[in-house]
Amino acid sequence: MVPRHVAIVMDGNGRWAKKRFMPRFFGHKQGVDALVRTVLSCADRGIEYLTVFAFSSENWKRPTEEVSGLMGLVLVAVAKYLSKLADRGVRIRIVGDRSQVSDKLRQAWEQAESSTRHNTRITLSVAFNYGGRWDIVQACRQAIASGIAPEDLDEAALNSFMALSYAPDPDLFIRTGGEVRISNFMLWQSAYSELFFSDCLWPEFGDAELDAALADYARRDRRFGAVQSAPANAAQGAA
Ligand code: IPE
Ligand code: IPE
Ligand code: MG
Repeated sequence: MVPRHVAIVMDGNGRWAKKRFMPRFFGHKQGVDALVRTVLSCADRGIEYLTVFAFSSENWKRPTEEVSGLMGLVLVAVAKYLSKLADRGVRIRIVGDRSQVSDKLRQAWEQAESSTRHNTRITLSVAFNYGGRWDIVQACRQAIASGIAPEDLDEAALNSFMALSYAPDPDLFIRTGGEVRISNFMLWQSAYSELFFSDCLWPEFGDAELDAALADYARRDRRFGAVQSAPANAAQGAA
């Protein structure tokens, strides 16, 4: 089974660059290329939603040059790749707090979203200035502002205010870069995601690693709290 929705924590850019005695920015630049090839590979495999972690609520703690380098890289990446992705049927959405980013960046995001809004092949959601906790808090604020009665606020109702309410929950959650943690990505939505941690550094992520993750996912038994699903030959074996 191919997952409908894949989420990726694109980690390891800095270490990839360091290994090559290059500045961290070089790793981020290569990371953009890895993202573009990954979204097209996911589309080729029939994945409907790809959500990637590009900048976390906590990444502001990095040195100013790195933060401004990343902001500038977004503008360069949109200028360089938007028309290619638009032509290949990619719908782009940005999730995260836009209030803290520059007008220029906000305009680039708006351009990316509006010029791809009619595409249907795959939805690429870029989580930028995003945190899973931020999302839960902003959803609660919107729910309160909507005037919803406390007894009407169930999981589905709160989910409708979450930044990714247009997408199903991620089936497969991949983190590259070797760290085995979530780092505040999609906390609400990943309740039953299958987790896959890869030592591959994000700039070197390609089809081989994607297919390894998909093959691993295909072997998982997703139970969602219910009993183990019966193997296909169970009836035969019992006879
Ligand atoms: C992930 O790579 C990209 C961002 C967080 C923007 P890192 O920059 O975290 O790279 P490492 O983990 O230091 O190698
Ligand atoms: C997570 O990576 C955020 C992104 C990939 C954008 P980090 O490198 O920021 O996470 P930690 O600090 O190792 O947990
Ligand atoms: Mg990192």
